[in-house]
Amino acid sequence: MATVSFDHVTKKYGEVTAVDDLSLDIVDGEFMVFVGPSGCGKTTSLRMIAGLEDITAGTLRIGDRIVNDVAPKDRDIAMVFQSYALYPHMTVRDNLAFGLKLRKVDKAEIDKRVQEAASILDLGKYLDRKPKELSGGQRQRVALGRAIVREPAVFLMDEPLSNLDAKLRVQTRAEILRLHQRLETTMVYVTHDQTEAMTMGTRIAVMSDGKLQQVGPPQELYDHPVNRFVGGFIGSPAMNFVDVTTAGSDGSMRLEAEGVSLPVPDRLRAAVGSGAGRTLTAGFRPEHFTVGGDGADTARFAATADVVEYLGSEELIHANVSGRDIVALLSSEFKIRPGEAIDLRVPLAKVQLFDPESSASLETLAAS
Ligand SMILES: Nc1ncnc2c1ncn2[C@@H]1O[C@H](COP(=O)(O)OP(=O)(O)O)[C@@H](O)[C@H]1O
Ligand SMILES: [Mg+2]
Repeated sequence: MATVSFDHVTKKYGEVTAVDDLSLDIVDGEFMVFVGPSGCGKTTSLRMIAGLEDITAGTLRIGDRIVNDVAPKDRDIAMVFQSYALYPHMTVRDNLAFGLKLRKVDKAEIDKRVQEAASILDLGKYLDRKPKELSGGQRQRVALGRAIVREPAVFLMDEPLSNLDAKLRVQTRAEILRLHQRLETTMVYVTHDQTEAMTMGTRIAVMSDGKLQQVGPPQELYDHPVNRFVGGFIGSPAMNFVDVTTAGSDGSMRLEAEGVSLPVPDRLRAAVGSGAGRTLTAGFRPEHFTVGGDGADTARFAATADVVEYLGSEELIHANVSGRDIVALLSSEFKIRPGEAIDLRVPLAKVQLFDPESSASLETLAAS
């Protein structure tokens, strides 16, 4: 097992900065997920750990060793790609054994590791089949098996589930987690899918534009996003953002926009300050909306239901608030119908505020 640490690591391709001054310590045995939109530098970060990309600046360590100039084969890592890259003419057994044969591991040891990997991944029945005789999910398990037999100090996975259909993705997700629990090996996993990140990560590193935005356990990112980007990226459906303006005086300061009104939450009072007329961006998660009630500690929205998507126990309401689109996830018991006026509420404890210029969370600014 091993730690992986990025110390001010930058990767440039000519003029393009793919990864910008990344500092991050991945703990021994943890499941670290890199998540962010396409092009944000996830694959480049992973390929630098693997040794498949040169590092432009900074230091990368695996364990205590600086690996900037260590060849991929000497790094004690194994990588699983989105495309399974199996050898089509070889059986599953030979696909699993191939990397070990190249490394001149002895025959008895190879057989033992192949059997073990096959048993962990439930591939025993398929050892004599060729890849084309397997389903997509089984092929992806063979690709995982090929990494497992190497017994690496660190597993690297780059969007390994994106070629699977939705049902298999959920199954394989659980299999990879089970694998991690069983092997307790450090895993670094790349995905653009925030649900995968939230369900799999011990910690999640959110990237945007080559820059690390925030790193932490899933719930910390969900409850305390450091900026608007993380707030909007983590959570599904995405957080609603509304520009609001401070109004009123110190004791009873409110945040207002057309159709939206809320008292300044106590915990953010100092960060908001006492001046009227300051613009802030307020964030409201769809799942935090309720309807009506007389609670003073709520943000209130004068909304009209526009489109209602029935999901079973819940309904996704696309509501119009003075020309703005607001998405709310409500219990189906409210039986909201299109065209209906709704008194939407969000508890103040759940409201996030961001500075519109820096996009930083006021909560984070207040704490620092
Ligand atoms: N070999 C390359 N040559 C030039 N630019 C590259 C190369 N690989 C990646 N990039 C650029 O670096 C940035 C990050 O890419 P990548 O790490 O693949 O993003 P992600 O995996 O998050 O989608 C993108 O702007 C991409 O176009
Ligand atoms: Mg990628």
